[in-house]
Amino acid sequence: MSVRLNDRYVRGFVRDDEISKISHLAEASFDLVKSGKGAGSDYLKWLDLPVNYDKEEFARIKKTAKRIQKCCDVFVVIGIGGSYLGARAAIEFVKSPLYNNLKKDTPEIYFAGNSISSSALNDILSICEGKDVCVNVISKSGTTTEPAVTFRIFRELLEKKYGEEGARERIFVTTDAKKGKLREFSTTKGYETFVVPDGIGGRYSVLTAVGLLPIAVAGCDIVKMMAGARDARSEYAKKFSSDSDCVRYAALRNILYNKGKSIEILVSYEPALQMLCEWWKQLYGESEGKDGKSLYPSSLIFSTDLHSLGQYVQDGQRTMFETVIDIRNPRDCVKIPDDPNNIDGLNFLSGKDLSYVNSMAMTGTLLAHNDGGVANIVLEVEDRSEHSFGFLVYFFELACAISGYMMGVNPFDQPGVEAYKKNMYALLGKPGYEEHRKALEEKLN
Ligand code: PA5
Repeated sequence: MSVRLNDRYVRGFVRDDEISKISHLAEASFDLVKSGKGAGSDYLKWLDLPVNYDKEEFARIKKTAKRIQKCCDVFVVIGIGGSYLGARAAIEFVKSPLYNNLKKDTPEIYFAGNSISSSALNDILSICEGKDVCVNVISKSGTTTEPAVTFRIFRELLEKKYGEEGARERIFVTTDAKKGKLREFSTTKGYETFVVPDGIGGRYSVLTAVGLLPIAVAGCDIVKMMAGARDARSEYAKKFSSDSDCVRYAALRNILYNKGKSIEILVSYEPALQMLCEWWKQLYGESEGKDGKSLYPSSLIFSTDLHSLGQYVQDGQRTMFETVIDIRNPRDCVKIPDDPNNIDGLNFLSGKDLSYVNSMAMTGTLLAHNDGGVANIVLEVEDRSEHSFGFLVYFFELACAISGYMMGVNPFDQPGVEAYKKNMYALLGKPGYEEHRKALEEKLN
């Protein structure tokens, strides 16, 4: 099994009768997900995606990834939110946060179009100078400002460098199957395209072409990743069980929320999981944060952050709990050397592996945070393989859907995301927003 919930450090905070009391709500919520009778049920296609994915497209993703690997030094992935976080999380989880700096026979990968910062974009543009570049623009709607503007800039760069024909060979588009500006544009230009399937929201899309193409270009085995998700589906999605770790995770976080814990901190002792935390924050924040409800999803990397926010977690407001991802089999082995003079007094660690020290830091912290009144749910993950990543993604997605229904929200919409866009379009003078611009000007004057 790739994920196991260890409740040892949450038992002191949640009673057995609280778990049994909430079990019927968990079951009703699971049934809503399975039956498709809950709010937002048009967006449930991710549930069977590990078995129902488009096999032909999947084969084409693998083939195209090989072609991209051969023809460029730099692969620029343009997208934001659900069209960006999953791919980056997977590459850092399986490979490394330092992927671009490691020795490898795959291209460097940079993620652009996930902000509107000219400095951030300029850095990537200067990295591209003198290098062969391919671009994958990912946008379901095809109208999101950040990636759309960034794509325009890279399109110009590629067309200047390779000519229109050459650029066509280097631009890959992932978008809606039929509609949207990007689809229209790709048809006109003749770009190779991949599909963001209907029925799968951005934050649930990492195991579609959205995530899989960049992940495959990085040299990760996407067959194993899908197998991981498939195993999780077999484990958790077939029928309800109050003993399933996925249901227990959803139930525990709801019980803690109802006890006034309004912040969930996802913790890892591996910096390679930082982007997984970012992906998880979007999944839970966008799915549950509505109608004035929900846990605020936050994240920390330990032991790094024990030297910054550790103080707050230990002694600050008692409004949070932690969910700790414990990678059971760390990939690398780094032994601490012996020093005959023992000047630094560290010989009690001579010959020990750094991951042993890391695991003691984790146990020590779990106990300390429990003593400080902070409950900890521990998710034991086998390793940092593609299989574990796929398994974990499915685990979190299903738990999120169940948990969202338990909280009484529609876990599949994101109406709040539109508010800033409407204001920004009006302020930028986008046609059709004239009235709204007037209203904003009044507020600003
Ligand atoms: O989860 C979501 O739906 C969002 O985060 C979107 O993925 C994000 O806004 C990007 O949208 P699009 O793919 O249409 O450019």
